[in-house]
Amino acid sequence: MSNNLLKGKRGIIFGALNEMSIAWKVAERAHEEGAQFVLTNAPIAMRMGEINKLAEKTNSQVIPADATSVEDLTKLLTQSQEILGGKIDFILHSIGMSPNVRKKKEYTGLNYEWYKQTLDVSAISLHKTLQVAKDLDAINDWGSVVALTYIAAQRIFPDYNDMADAKSLLESITRSFGYHYGVSKKVRVNTISQSPTVTTAGSGVSGFDKFISYSENMSPLGNAGAIDCANYCISMFSDLTKFVTMQNLFHDGGFSATGVTTSVMDKF
Ligand SMILES: NC(=O)c1ccc[n+]([C@@H]2O[C@H](COP(=O)([O-])OP(=O)(O)OC[C@H]3O[C@@H](n4cnc5c(N)ncnc54)[C@H](O)[C@@H]3O)[C@@H](O)[C@H]2O)c1
Repeated sequence: MSNNLLKGKRGIIFGALNEMSIAWKVAERAHEEGAQFVLTNAPIAMRMGEINKLAEKTNSQVIPADATSVEDLTKLLTQSQEILGGKIDFILHSIGMSPNVRKKKEYTGLNYEWYKQTLDVSAISLHKTLQVAKDLDAINDWGSVVALTYIAAQRIFPDYNDMADAKSLLESITRSFGYHYGVSKKVRVNTISQSPTVTTAGSGVSGFDKFISYSENMSPLGNAGAIDCANYCISMFSDLTKFVTMQNLFHDGGFSATGVTTSVMDKF
């Protein structure tokens, strides 16, 4: 289904690793809605080669970039404008990684070098992307930047570990940079706080299967899926949401506003 919501718009989509990735679905939907974009991911993620399938399907080019490297981001933003023929209208930041989670360190026994990496990859990379874009004046007025986050930024979910701190920082950068970029160029910056979703990053959190069912039972509408998240991203990139900025937008079937549900109570 297409409503040409992104017709004529140019974008950069970070984070499509495989078909399960939320960014993958966003790329497919952005293509359907008439956007042209560049796909990017960390050079190491290119090895699996799956992103090339997506590039072919969406008629887009791939530029490898480590989102923690200002040098890589500068090349990415510069080359994307050359390839797409003008300034950028939308960016999806769909990046998350914690070495502490991967290597099963507990929150009270973190490796601090890895903790810095978690924050750099999962949060500071958004600041770097925005700062490079602003310095290069690479985003059009009323452009829209969306990063994906999780409610562990506001509430404790013990197994989410140091990613919770990264998401809090990500949401704070969204507000702070959103202010400055809004005042100077009318560029909007928001986070979408997504339901737990079965993807490579999601499945890295221990006890994820049980957690998905819990969340499903705690959400009046049930968990929001990856496709629905992609649709929300499309609406945020479109001109229909021009005055939304500096927000953390819950896309979670009502989970964030629910204290308890009868289906959860019935289990006790
Ligand atoms: N899956 C969930 O349950 C869920 C829920 C809420 C929010 N999110 C967020 O959605 C976003 C996308 O995750 P996903 O679930 O689609 O999983 P995913 O594993 O498909 O995507 C994560 C991406 O981050 C990329 N990445 C890691 N290090 C990078 C680096 N240094 N430079 C550039 N890219 C790098 C990976 O290559 C991968 O493509 C993440 O921010 C995640 O925290 C996911």
